[in-house]
Amino acid sequence: MKDQLLELEKRAGDELNAIDDPSGLEPFRIKYLGKKGALTSMMKSLGTLSREERPEAGKLANQIKVNLSRRFEETKISLETGGSGDDASVDVTLPGREPLCGHLHPITTVIKEVCLIFSRMGFRVVKGPNVELDYYNFEALNLPKDHPARDMQDTFYISDNVVLRTHTSPVQVRVMETQTPPVSVIAPGKVYRRDSDVSHTPMFHQVEGLLVDRDVSFGELKGTLTSFIHQMFGSHTRLRFRPSFFPFTEPSAEVDIECVICGGEGCRTCSQTGWLEILGSGMVDPEVYGFVDYDSDLYSGFAFGIGIERIAMLKYGIDDIQLFFKNDMRFLNQF
Ligand code: DAH
Repeated sequence: MKDQLLELEKRAGDELNAIDDPSGLEPFRIKYLGKKGALTSMMKSLGTLSREERPEAGKLANQIKVNLSRRFEETKISLETGGSGDDASVDVTLPGREPLCGHLHPITTVIKEVCLIFSRMGFRVVKGPNVELDYYNFEALNLPKDHPARDMQDTFYISDNVVLRTHTSPVQVRVMETQTPPVSVIAPGKVYRRDSDVSHTPMFHQVEGLLVDRDVSFGELKGTLTSFIHQMFGSHTRLRFRPSFFPFTEPSAEVDIECVICGGEGCRTCSQTGWLEILGSGMVDPEVYGFVDYDSDLYSGFAFGIGIERIAMLKYGIDDIQLFFKNDMRFLNQF
């Protein structure tokens, strides 16, 4: 019996080694390991052995069954994965799975670009608080409590003297309070107003600019902003300075660029005017210098406030400002 078992083990082993296709596996299993297989029948016949022979033969038969089953499983895995069963079966040349990777929000991209352009002109980037004192947001910008221009900005009040800043202009005052001229800064950030439709959201972004020194003229304001617009929208973009009013600048101007949608012909986006307003600006009003102890006989300067969403909408051809803040991945993934 013992010889027969060993002989069977050798024969089965050789046959297993010779299998080179998964289709050969099942017939092998039936032949040796199945209910009516050779090994199984031999185990069944153990009962015919004498009591002395039985334990040793039984042990050997079990051993052979365990070994053969293990080798059978190994061969099966190896044939089904197309390799030898060890690590070499992993194809290291396959391209890996790319991890899902985020990207910048279009508004962040535009803010970075605006900041880069002004940094190259020598402006320093500064920040101010979003929750702001009435004093900085209005009072020190020449907008006393009863000033009618306060109505232009639908303010979120936190308390009588604390607001969510309605513009980035308060950063001008904070900078001038702590620094003497020459000053040249830009202040990007969020601003808040009670307003919501296709061209307004209750939170949006601005970049404020301020430059104060001796003998700063309106010509420098024009040159700086013209250079910015040409870098942002291309050097052929036509622009115009249109007289306007802001309590903290005198004289004041709004800057329009030729409509990027219709090229100045007149369309829905530009309300048939051919022009689009993108920023407010002006020479800092001497009244403001009074709040920060600057000598207005000695110094002059200009300031400007750029609407970031407006720039992003024109740059990317987007006609609904709400899209920026809906977090719809179908929209965001396009950037
Ligand atoms: N703060 C103004 C606004 O939000 C924009 C602005 C106008 C900023 C003129 C300025 C400026 O710095 O000089 O409507």
